[in-house]
Amino acid sequence: MSFPELERKRKEHLLGGGKERQDDCRKKGKLTAFERPGAIFDSGTFVELDPFATHECYDFGMEKKKILGDGVVAGYGNIDGRLCYLFSHDFTAYGGSLGWAFASKVCKIMDLALKQGVPVIGINDSGGARIQEGVVSLGGYAEIFDRNVKTSGVIPQISLIMGPCAGGAVYSPAITDFIIMTKSSYMFITGPEVVKEVTKETVSFDELGGASVHNKKSGVAHFLAEDEQDAFRILRKLLSFIPSNNLEDPPRFQSKDDPMRANEELNSILPPSPNKPYDMLSVIKNVVDSNDFLEVQKHWARNIIAGFARLDGSPVGIVANNPEVLAGVLDIDSCDKASRFIRFCDCFNIPLVTFVDVPGFLPGTSQEWGGIIRHGAKLLYAFSEASVPKLTVITRKAYGGAYDVMNSKHIGADFNFAWPNAEIAVMGPEGACNIVFRKEISEAKDQKKKRDELVEEYKKRFSNPYIAASRGYIDDVIEPKETRSRLISSLKAINRKREERPKRKHGNIPV
Ligand code: HXC
Repeated sequence: MSFPELERKRKEHLLGGGKERQDDCRKKGKLTAFERPGAIFDSGTFVELDPFATHECYDFGMEKKKILGDGVVAGYGNIDGRLCYLFSHDFTAYGGSLGWAFASKVCKIMDLALKQGVPVIGINDSGGARIQEGVVSLGGYAEIFDRNVKTSGVIPQISLIMGPCAGGAVYSPAITDFIIMTKSSYMFITGPEVVKEVTKETVSFDELGGASVHNKKSGVAHFLAEDEQDAFRILRKLLSFIPSNNLEDPPRFQSKDDPMRANEELNSILPPSPNKPYDMLSVIKNVVDSNDFLEVQKHWARNIIAGFARLDGSPVGIVANNPEVLAGVLDIDSCDKASRFIRFCDCFNIPLVTFVDVPGFLPGTSQEWGGIIRHGAKLLYAFSEASVPKLTVITRKAYGGAYDVMNSKHIGADFNFAWPNAEIAVMGPEGACNIVFRKEISEAKDQKKKRDELVEEYKKRFSNPYIAASRGYIDDVIEPKETRSRLISSLKAINRKREERPKRKHGNIPV
């Protein structure tokens, strides 16, 4: 028996806003909204829901413009064998704009994902709220935002930006855990035309909200993808570190890398001068399984490094000061970057490993006026709040408040190690001596000699890891080459950690 009407409707649905618009989309190097799920999910596993949904708008001639599916493709499928829900905006249909039917489909997907406890992936390619549907589309977005918030920390939410996205099509992704932007995509609250009308400013799509802007300047995006295939590769890799929900542990893989592997190279990685930089990324890659590290927000706030790796097959989130950028100092952006990453790991049971080489917080009016106190407090809060296993390695400097903040024992780290040349002090020896011994130095006959002597004395007394180790703030001083084996052994010694906290509605992080 055949079902000609069903067949006809299915064909019509797959044309979205029409063949011509779909061809235009392909000419721009983009897949259509229908092709994208097929490229993400394991072959043949995508199942679509609500293909025949249509809007109920009768204004502005919309009653004559009904498109089956209403501009969004929604459903579920498997990624590397794990179930995920997904919606994919169709820019060929009303510019991917969101009306009542569109919003209802997205909300249905989010509700199903939450009930099942699996990730939601949103492919965004949309002009935002559908102008013709007025407040109904604003309400539709607000219902999605509400779900974004209420599922935050329960199931992972990942956004891919694959076209010119505006309004709600950027605010919903902004609440999700990660944003992956292709090089030819844009994000703005409103496009260049409206900007010109309101502020008289002439600005290109790229200058206003290109992928480079959001990966390097604003910190809105987390990954910069060369093209759509690269974005899907990043998505699959990212998901491989993350559990399906907050009640599960992250997926473990059998590691081929020897957990006891010592790395002699690390023993000589620190330059002779403590003021010279070295490559913290190579420290991380040397320590983790198979040199495999997925860096998050790698183009923004580069004075801190954040990302995912595995230790003997178990996912960990890594946070590290980067001595190659601003000497690894903490500033507003780096505190924001690390705080959000730490909180994600804590939501999804991913242990934290912190590598510390930090001379302090960046001083000056631009940082003070920008609220470094508030942003730095965020990082302190995030580390302290995190109840996952927390490990720290001080590779070199840990000065002042930054020592406290960077996952110190005092704010709940479980295992803290220091390399033998670590300097743990209120500040660097030169600065400290200039303040504490100002009088002695200025009164000395040979001021340089006096200062050098005092600096040496200070270094012996304070700029080493042994005072902290004598108090138990550092659990052991280790050779750099032992870092991998000690971290793996510590992780095994604390992987059943459960922490009871006082009951409360929620804390009040200084956002
Ligand atoms: C209805 C829309 C639309 C919208 C685009 N279209 N945006 N239709 N509602 N919001 C339609 C266009 O009319 C056009 O239809 C087709 O989609 C393609 O749009 P173009 O402008 O030709 O494409 P392009 O030049 O690539 O520009 C894309 C764009 C631009 C940058 C997204 O369309 C734009 O600026 N749109 C408005 C963006 C915006 O201000 N949105 C905010 C909405 S408020 P035809 O049939 O002519 O091809 C919102 C509030 C949510 O979202 C709450 C936030 C907190």
